[in-house]
Amino acid sequence: MRGVGRIKILVIGGGGREHTLVWKLAQSPKVNEIYVAPGNAGTAHIARNLDIKPDDIEALAKIASEKNIDLTVVGPETPLAEGIADQFLIRGLQIFGPTKQATEIESSKVFAKELMQKYNIPCAKSASFSDYNKALDYVKQQKPPIVVKADGLAAGKGVILADSVPKALEALALIMETKAFGAAGDRVIIEEYLSGREMSTFAFTDGQTIIPMTSACDYKPAFDGDRGPNTGGMGSYSPPPFLSAALAKTVKEKIMEPTVKAMHDEGRAYRGVLYGGLMISDSNPRVLEFNARFGDPEAQVTLPLLQTDLVDIMLAVNDNKLGNLKVEWSRDACVGVVMASGGYPASYKTGFPISGLDDLDKDIMVFHAGTRLESGKVVTSGGRVLAVVGRGKTIAEAREKVYNNIGRINFEGCHYRKDIALIKEGR
Ligand code: AMP
Ligand code: GLY
Repeated sequence: MRGVGRIKILVIGGGGREHTLVWKLAQSPKVNEIYVAPGNAGTAHIARNLDIKPDDIEALAKIASEKNIDLTVVGPETPLAEGIADQFLIRGLQIFGPTKQATEIESSKVFAKELMQKYNIPCAKSASFSDYNKALDYVKQQKPPIVVKADGLAAGKGVILADSVPKALEALALIMETKAFGAAGDRVIIEEYLSGREMSTFAFTDGQTIIPMTSACDYKPAFDGDRGPNTGGMGSYSPPPFLSAALAKTVKEKIMEPTVKAMHDEGRAYRGVLYGGLMISDSNPRVLEFNARFGDPEAQVTLPLLQTDLVDIMLAVNDNKLGNLKVEWSRDACVGVVMASGGYPASYKTGFPISGLDDLDKDIMVFHAGTRLESGKVVTSGGRVLAVVGRGKTIAEAREKVYNNIGRINFEGCHYRKDIALIKEGR
């Protein structure tokens, strides 16, 4: 695509979140051209895909210089945790995403927990250990359910909810002895189990000012009724109907603002999007985890509702000028349902042609994740393949649109949840 503006953008990543980012950024009149590394079949229509891996920081910095990129936008956590922002800044390249030290809020659960405890940010009670035997002794004294978390990045799999002490001991052995998640398991957190409603909340921040984004709920279990193994996310909706103005105010004032201030006071100024995974019990929000990026699949249902130019927001974040900007959100709702490969989240085959993509109602959005082009045709190339997103005045209307359309898309073995955004008590 060639836009009317002057700005050249590079988006890093190749999932549904990144397709959504590219789609949104492409709407800006300021944009001239968008590159994406590596992208997917969906981004290939609106941007130029580059065959570079998201963690190949050297190659990304080189291409950003060569192509005179004005702004690089980072989707996934791994390059952030590896210091892509620091490497770009050293070279004088503009990048949207926190530095390595600031990303520790996601890449080290022990760091995040210590920060929250030090600054009285509400979270589950917990203890952290680097000594396996001490962790074992501690677990034996706890009442189930017990939450065991690996310290480092584990692609969403490092959290084990154990409903008995023996299961918690097994989880500890898996993380600390077997090292199922590698060095991410050098330290663990043992945490009290919280019940309530889960919500993902997001804010743009330049390190001082924060501007809340709209919030969302996602669905991790593979099958209807929240059954089956956990996945990267099978669907999402925004905004959560239980998010009252009072709760939004509490989240901003008790969680997001104090966290950004704490990071600033710790000398780790946080610039980018801060993602709070929250548990709300009796209108009381507590933090389950922080992430240093947009959510996936939450970006697919929140960014379509953003009315302000995303390029302006990102540039204001980088220039410490977020305080001058008014960010507006539509009052509509979005629902997104993920279509996954047969077998996902366990092993699955790829390379199946996807049919029906041209057979959808006009206002349906399809964000690609695990897709690629093969001889000009869209084929599957990953576990989560597509997110089909509908928009309406209400969640129910958006939901109906998605489910009226999703059956028209097909690929061998595909499966999706039928109960996304079917809102009842507890969800
Ligand atoms: P995390 O990666 O820390 O967000 O954890 C992954 C998932 O585990 C969350 O989305 C929650 O569903 C669940 N979880 C994490 N911590 C707790 C907790 N303390 N109590 C209950 N559920 C939790
Ligand atoms: N939706 C969960 C995540 O992005 O981590």
